[in-house]
Amino acid sequence: MPLLKNISTLYVCPDDGDQSDVHPVHDAVISWKDGIIEWVGPKSEFPGREDDYDVLNAGGRIVIPGLVDCHTHLAFGGWRPDEFEMRVQGKSYLEISRSGGGILSTVRETRSIHENELYEKTAGLLDKINRSGTTTIECKSGYGLSLKDEIKTLRVYDRLRYNKTAHIISTFLGAHTIPPEFQDNRKSYISLLTDDIIPRVGEEKLAKFCDVFVEESAFTVDEARHILEAGKRYGLQPKVHADQLTSCGGAELAAETGAISADHLEKVSDLGIKKMADAGVIAVTLPFASLYTQESFLDCRKLMDGGVRVAVATDFNPGSAPCYDMPLAMMLACNQSRLTPAQALKGATIYGAKAIGMENSTGSLEKGKSADFLVIDAPSVNFWMYQFAPDRKMEVFLKGECIQS
Ligand code: NIG
Ligand code: FE
Repeated sequence: MPLLKNISTLYVCPDDGDQSDVHPVHDAVISWKDGIIEWVGPKSEFPGREDDYDVLNAGGRIVIPGLVDCHTHLAFGGWRPDEFEMRVQGKSYLEISRSGGGILSTVRETRSIHENELYEKTAGLLDKINRSGTTTIECKSGYGLSLKDEIKTLRVYDRLRYNKTAHIISTFLGAHTIPPEFQDNRKSYISLLTDDIIPRVGEEKLAKFCDVFVEESAFTVDEARHILEAGKRYGLQPKVHADQLTSCGGAELAAETGAISADHLEKVSDLGIKKMADAGVIAVTLPFASLYTQESFLDCRKLMDGGVRVAVATDFNPGSAPCYDMPLAMMLACNQSRLTPAQALKGATIYGAKAIGMENSTGSLEKGKSADFLVIDAPSVNFWMYQFAPDRKMEVFLKGECIQS
């Protein structure tokens, strides 16, 4: 049985307490068996005998839970570097989508490739993402927008779940935008979603959540309600891309439909914050999306003051957030969204896990949970966030196995 000792500080990150309460344990040890945590706490209280264990030495470094990226669009064809240049030159994200770029250009590329090619590309990305510290990841469909291509994307996630070690949660995002063949007939696309694709996804258990992009350029609140209710009938729990570019009632809808999370939220209203707090909806902040669309960042402190828990995620996708590095997203959430390093840590671990219903098996370092953790060469989480260094040494343990040293 492995035992990791000589940990200067281990951050438990339990669900209890408030967003700042990361529960640091000094001079800690952690032991695990068959990928599951057996004991965590101060060395002085460890009940076992070291000789009975395979002892590993953290060398005085810190340990945090494996990071949970609770919002990504992981599987897609192609990339969109030209749009990056256009945005830098002053074109907005919405202008680019209106002229046929944006999500629709990735839909064309995703549809044009075979499932195996999509699998290989996505598997390669997932390996790199795991090595950067993300051990649990939520993956959305939404670049297929047809029965065949949405199922193709969700099958890729199923195959990854089977072949790879990472914890993978799938979300159906057929309501990402209206596909080109339905541009003049959005009602028919919504019927295709509610009457054909959602029933199939639900019956084949291809996803756990149903997400809708509620936005001027995508779906209205009424359309989204109808789609999310259809998802619920087939066992898919709601999630919402809410109030990203315009304030359009996405947060309020998330509360009304019992969504597990409302994500983006840069333009959330005060009423939306109150309703989210009352309904216990987790807010997910996505700093890369704000950075790459040159929009203002979410004021996370306002949400926390309003009683909402805030998760931090990457939104990794080929348009608005082509970066998958969770530590960098956390550092931006500190600098731009007013989270303290401890609050960002809780947002990237246990609250991320809560945003995808995974809090019973991952997201904190507690007995019985998956042995997913990072050993980081920094004296504290404050220092790690403050002196952001892409070459900082970090070991990644996933289900008790070291996948990056
Ligand atoms: O979360 N907001 C909608 N969807 C993605 C963007 C996807 C894209 O640009 O391809 C997002 O930012
Ligand atoms: Fe997104």
